[in-house]
Amino acid sequence: MANQLSITTSGGNMLCVHAAGDGPILMLVHGFPLDHTMWNAQLDSLSCKYRVLAPDMRGFGASTSYEGDYSLADLADDLEYARHHLANDQQIFLCGLSMGGYVALEYCKRHGENLAGLILADTKPQCDDDPAKAAREAMAQRVVDVGAWEATRGMLPKLLSTRRPSGKDSATADVARMLRRAPPRSVANAQRAMARRADFVAELPGITVPTLVVVGEDDVICPPEATRAWAALLPNAICDVIEGAGHIPPMETPDLFNASIQRFVDQHVA
Ligand code: MLT
Repeated sequence: MANQLSITTSGGNMLCVHAAGDGPILMLVHGFPLDHTMWNAQLDSLSCKYRVLAPDMRGFGASTSYEGDYSLADLADDLEYARHHLANDQQIFLCGLSMGGYVALEYCKRHGENLAGLILADTKPQCDDDPAKAAREAMAQRVVDVGAWEATRGMLPKLLSTRRPSGKDSATADVARMLRRAPPRSVANAQRAMARRADFVAELPGITVPTLVVVGEDDVICPPEATRAWAALLPNAICDVIEGAGHIPPMETPDLFNASIQRFVDQHVA
């Protein structure tokens, strides 16, 4: 059972972090436009061995809906604030999925000395090209008029493996629930922050912290082949392809995902 911890960040806003277990710190950063509940299976299982911290990023879940623009670097600083206040300034294993991975790369650049290990799941280091930026701006404008579900429901078929049996799929229902409850303003702010994100490809050879790159074998947003190509630029990384999963392995195939995380953390824990 996770506890909900609230901390007030330097800007006076509230960041909610869901915490369970004891041991080495594993911080899990959710994707867009989701919230910490995408990590429920990890909060349940991995908390047997680790202290699992799953923040709700700005405006999502129980964290304050910030007004105005922010950058992914600001989100990385929120994570550092959480590490400082909730992890006794210990080094952490930081795992980010998709948008969470973009934030984890920013964290690595800004606060890399505080990482015991980095886990990049179903994400990529490249920034957006112009059409991708335009699509994000279109959604940012539309979501405020039509609501989060209407604006984001088109994402749903791309998020989960199409090989999953339809109808019996609690992951689909859980993702749909997160899409429905995402505040429109938060969806817009996150899209604009992602459109402005930096490109990290040139920085990959300089990331020496032990890194696990994980990707679902059926991920159509960050396909395995492209993922293997950029993972090979990291000098201290391994890449695990998770069978039977699409873009969100921690929800689709939690046992396989958790086993991959455990192998990595146990190998690198001090
Ligand atoms: C996510 O899952 O976080 C999104 O696919 C990230 C993105 O829109 O680039």
